Amino acid sequence: MSKTAIFEINGKKFEFPLVVGTENEVAIDIKKLRAMAGGIITLDPGYKNTGSCESAITFLDGEKGILRYRGYAIEDLAEKADFLEIAYLLIFGELPTEEQLIKFSSDIKDQAHVDEDIKKIIDGFPKAAHPMGVLSSLTSALVAFNPTSVDVESDEEMYNAIVRLLGKFPVLTAWAYRKRAGLPLDYGDNSLGYVENFLKMMFKKPTEDYMLNPVVVDALDKLLILHADHEQNCSTSTVRMVGSSHAGLFVSISAGINALWGPLHGGANQAVIEMLEAIKADDGDTKKYMAKAKDKSDPFRLMGFGHRVYKNFDPRAKIIKKSADEVLTDLGVQDPILDIAKGLEEEALRDPYFVDRKLYPNVDFYSGIIYRALGIPTEMFTPMFALGRLPGWIAQWREMRLRKEPIGRPRQVYIGENLRDFKPLTKR
Ligand code: SDX
Repeated sequence: MSKTAIFEINGKKFEFPLVVGTENEVAIDIKKLRAMAGGIITLDPGYKNTGSCESAITFLDGEKGILRYRGYAIEDLAEKADFLEIAYLLIFGELPTEEQLIKFSSDIKDQAHVDEDIKKIIDGFPKAAHPMGVLSSLTSALVAFNPTSVDVESDEEMYNAIVRLLGKFPVLTAWAYRKRAGLPLDYGDNSLGYVENFLKMMFKKPTEDYMLNPVVVDALDKLLILHADHEQNCSTSTVRMVGSSHAGLFVSISAGINALWGPLHGGANQAVIEMLEAIKADDGDTKKYMAKAKDKSDPFRLMGFGHRVYKNFDPRAKIIKKSADEVLTDLGVQDPILDIAKGLEEEALRDPYFVDRKLYPNVDFYSGIIYRALGIPTEMFTPMFALGRLPGWIAQWREMRLRKEPIGRPRQVYIGENLRDFKPLTKR
């Protein structure tokens, strides 16, 4: 295996080192390209062929459908760990000991409240405001109530900021839902676990106790684990980009929430359900929607299908599909859109358009069906994705700052007007 790559440009050769990762991924290190080649740069819209960083957090192999957090297979973690263990693993690099987990959980509970003035901010939103917009605003607002910026070199300050965010984010997420549902903005109960407490904050009615269903708790815990990190996706790259200017952790996460909201990214889980509902309302005519998805003149895409990296089954989709069957059976829920989803998947996996482009169901294709069965409304699906992705965003932001990565500032190729003289108003 050669250790360098050689470019030949206009008869001149330039040699660049190869970087090889622990899973034998190879990259050409072009850090010095522009200086060596007289200003020449690379161009790669959407960064389909460009690595932004070296990272030790998550490994995925899109061709083989592999996903690992800090070296542990996602299948193992989804089965054997709980969400707080995964949060600790992603952020600090190791599965916590029992003592570490107890302290981590206790420190997070100590932060599971927000300044009462946050309620005044929520009051200012119209009831119909999308919870993702409310959530990103409230996450930014946390800075106003926690003004001390984080010294990333201080393990203690960093730890405190992390547990503060992990403690407060579920409150903000639940309150974004309750505002829309016209319910009082209550707290949960620190005697409960992280996921149990979140469910209680979401669904407890003021007039009765909230009865926890272990099937619901387990299903949500697994969904949060499956969403916890995914290397350099759009929203994580946004968190890293904003953090690279040394903006604070909370505002960097707020930027990530906004990037996740897009229907091509985390917003897809809401768009999948809306698509399946439309198909159901259209007499289950999946063929019509398959044709629309393949019609280049039609902007419609099969939501929940395709992925920038996975050119095989998204391993998360496999786990979620199996869990969807189990959860709906356990809860005695009959949801016709699950059958429509399965039918759509079978048709697409036989259709040359999808097969040739290696378009498989992704994490968003079945997740909404479980969320619905758990009683979570459609507009809360992407906030649930954000709740799951929070530890991954934190881990990636922390790694970027601790590795002292430079401020993100891509180059461009200018294709605008060449120099021209100013035209006075009378001559335009
Ligand atoms: C997430 O990056 C991550 O890791 C993200 C994520 C995470 O955990 O953070 O995994 C979460 O965002 C999952 C993806 C959710 N989005 C959707 O389900 C929206 C529908 N999917 C597509 O919009 C699309 O597949 C993307 C955005 C996910 C990926 O797009 P790419 O990599 O830019 O691929 P592309 O647009 O270049 O598509 C290649 C071809 C094109 O056709 P041709 O030009 O070759 O003829 O495939 C077609 C596309 O038109 N195509 C689709 C399609 N996805 C791609 N055609 C119909 N339906 C689709 N869903």
